[in-house]
Amino acid sequence: MKLFIDTANLDEIREVHSWGILSGVTTNPSLIAREGRDFIEVVHEICELVQGPVSAEVTAQDAEGMIREGRLLAQIHEHVVVKVPLLEPGLMACSVLASEGIAVNVTLCFQASQALLAGLAGATYVSPFIGRIDDISWDGGELIEHITEIYAQSPSIHTQVLAASLRHPQHLVQAALSGADVATCPYKVLKQALKHPLTDIGNQRFLEDWEAVPERDISVLVQRWLQSR
Ligand code: E4P
Repeated sequence: MKLFIDTANLDEIREVHSWGILSGVTTNPSLIAREGRDFIEVVHEICELVQGPVSAEVTAQDAEGMIREGRLLAQIHEHVVVKVPLLEPGLMACSVLASEGIAVNVTLCFQASQALLAGLAGATYVSPFIGRIDDISWDGGELIEHITEIYAQSPSIHTQVLAASLRHPQHLVQAALSGADVATCPYKVLKQALKHPLTDIGNQRFLEDWEAVPERDISVLVQRWLQSR
């Protein structure tokens, strides 16, 4: 499973990108609004930094408007993936944009039947919202399993399942176990996914024990060893 970050904040993206684990970025109008910056400039900067798929969402509500905005967004950078909502106009826009070779992320997916339609419309990604599904006491992990099973049985569908709306590290694990192709995580969840108190305690203990070693500068030790050979 590949990992995207779900943010429009350049500092967060820069930090996680430096870990070497990031394949792409998803944004949405709420995340862009939070930054208080020019939408197009932010998307372009993210694309240049990550050099991988970057979802940028249309805000028009009719198919014609979504297609027009999608074509424009695709001109910002070759890595832009046009994000459309899983509504009737979004489906129509997805079909047209996909037929023009534009990558589309069909977002706000809450049931498997919607994902089937997005797949048939030629979406590059479909985004089931795990966290928001769990919020209403349904099972987000089960939804991912159903979508991956449907896609596996549909040879004409080449859509990737992009698990979205992840709220905690267990959602990330659930996405991976359920067969998602990609999971997009907020910065906070990625930090939580990395951190474990036993890792910190163990690391601290190794350092304390190492203090008892008289010759402990590894570069000196290796240089000396190399010269003695
Ligand atoms: C996905 O592409 C969305 O931007 C995102 O995951 C929504 O998450 P939320 O439910 O935490 O807003």
